[in-house]
Amino acid sequence: HAADGRTADLAGRHVVISAGGTREPLDPVRFLGNRSSGRQGIALATAAARRGARVTLVAANVEDALLPDDPAVAVRRVETALELRDAVRAAAAEADAVVMAAAVADFRPATTTTHKIKKAVGGDADPEPIRLATNPDILAELAADRPRTGQVVVGFAAETGDGDADALEHGRAKARRKGADLLAVNQVGEDRGFGDVPNEVTVLDAAGEVVARAGGSKTEVADALWTLVAEQLVAAST
Ligand code: CTP
Ligand code: CA
Repeated sequence: HAADGRTADLAGRHVVISAGGTREPLDPVRFLGNRSSGRQGIALATAAARRGARVTLVAANVEDALLPDDPAVAVRRVETALELRDAVRAAAAEADAVVMAAAVADFRPATTTTHKIKKAVGGDADPEPIRLATNPDILAELAADRPRTGQVVVGFAAETGDGDADALEHGRAKARRKGADLLAVNQVGEDRGFGDVPNEVTVLDAAGEVVARAGGSKTEVADALWTLVAEQLVAAST
């Protein structure tokens, strides 16, 4: 690693990254999910390994072909938000940094049946609504109750402007609410969006202040974040 001449500023560090999107089961064959591919989290894992870190990648429903094939990256597969929380917390106990890049479902079905849900035969009445329960906020929990002192906690947020505030203002409020050391805010607008287009992120601290802007590929965004994390780790140990 770091054989390409880049810095090995994460050598000797252990970092935990969540990636992908959780699936919340309704029954054995159906779930509530989201379209997150996991690419940003995977770019973070690959970049951290290149910079010398040992990586635990908690992968929520990430396509096999996308997962890094690197001995420095240990992959833990999960499906639901509750499984993701357990896996992240377990790995975080001995981590220098935790980055929550996964799209965690805010809600899960309040009940899950062990049998496949059947539609009523013969009737054309609409089904009962699906009752939801709130998932824990894994990032806020980690930030408020660090499994290890001096650990750097990082989150991601995609924000759009609306009638109340612009995207950055929403990001600032979220940064203060979450308490993470760094929150990478992706301002999703008409000219910026999902898919393979390069992203543009504004990195905020826990007070909602702008600490950096990064643009370009997911790898460039990942490297910009690791530079900030590495600086915080050095500052914390001196
Ligand atoms: N996150 C988390 N646990 C949750 C929801 C989100 O750890 N239950 C993390 C995500 O991994 C991400 C950050 O929090 O790093 C921001 O996620 P986001 O969905 O933007 O924030 P929410 O607080 O869920 O707010 P919103 O109402 O905008 O969805
Ligand atoms: Ca959310």
